Amino acid sequence: MYYDSIVTENKEIASAIWHLKLKTKKTLKAKPGQFINLRVSETLVPFLRKPFSIFDATANTVEVIYKVTGEGTKLLSGKKKGEALNFLGPLGNTYPEVPKGFKKVILVGGGTGIASLHFLAKKLKKKGIKVIQGARNKSCVIHKKKFEEYQGVIATEDGSCGTKGFVTEILKTQLKDNTLIYACGPEQMLFAIQKLAGTKKNVKVLGAFEAYMGCGLGACLSCVIEVKTPKGTENVRVCKEGPVFDVEKIVFSGPRGN
Ligand SMILES: Cc1cc2nc3c(=O)[nH]c(=O)nc-3n(C[C@H](O)[C@H](O)[C@H](O)COP(=O)(O)OP(=O)(O)OC[C@H]3O[C@@H](n4cnc5c(N)ncnc54)[C@H](O)[C@@H]3O)c2cc1C
Ligand code: FES
Repeated sequence: MYYDSIVTENKEIASAIWHLKLKTKKTLKAKPGQFINLRVSETLVPFLRKPFSIFDATANTVEVIYKVTGEGTKLLSGKKKGEALNFLGPLGNTYPEVPKGFKKVILVGGGTGIASLHFLAKKLKKKGIKVIQGARNKSCVIHKKKFEEYQGVIATEDGSCGTKGFVTEILKTQLKDNTLIYACGPEQMLFAIQKLAGTKKNVKVLGAFEAYMGCGLGACLSCVIEVKTPKGTENVRVCKEGPVFDVEKIVFSGPRGN
């Protein structure tokens, strides 16, 4: 569904990372794991809407966290309070409920991937979760204080905040048998987590993928990734069947951007 919204806040909260808050008249029903496709300009440049995970939402508000990486996000960072923005959503599937048989739940977000997990952390708070955030350095850490409410810990590549190294450095010390991991971030991170999961018994990784997208509606097939099936492999659309998948079933396509 299309929504007309008004910017209520658009603020830089870390290095080139912004927090955008929108208010809608029409009510919406968003769930953790879903995303919105934002139209960042009234002109044809950029032509495509831009997908962003839902950081938080109520019946009349949606929040996203975005990193300025190109033309679309640069334009978005110029939006002021009171300006109008149209978005399509909420799109995609959601993080499934915690299945029976898991004793521990860990949320792992790399870069802006942590945005997608905030909404879920709020929902699962009472279950005694732990959240691991990975960032390049201290200046890229997203809402450190907010995530402390959810037992948030941080890994930075240069060690300027929290543990030095990738999220897997912390995950290694936390991982036990019967753990469910929800994750979002670069594909390489999701597969490194899946590899680690294989070192314990009954560990499942449910990961939200951020493939390149065109339409966001399942029509253009620009977002397909390969999943393993009993007969071989098949393509699935991240915007329609995803973005959340059982990472064990995904065929790793090799390093990409981010
Ligand atoms: C389901 C989904 C959820 C997402 N959630 C978030 C989010 O919460 N916060 C956030 O900051 N970003 C998120 N992204 C990525 C975001 O959509 C892109 O960064 C954004 O569209 C870039 O737009 P641009 O016009 O500024 O840059 P472009 O000019 O389109 O690209 C700039 C650079 O970023 C790279 N890039 C663009 N899209 C992607 C992508 N999907 N994966 C890896 N590299 C990419 C390009 O290769 C290029 O190098 C998400 C993507 C998807 C598919
Ligand atoms: S973005 Fe067009 S099919 Fe997924």
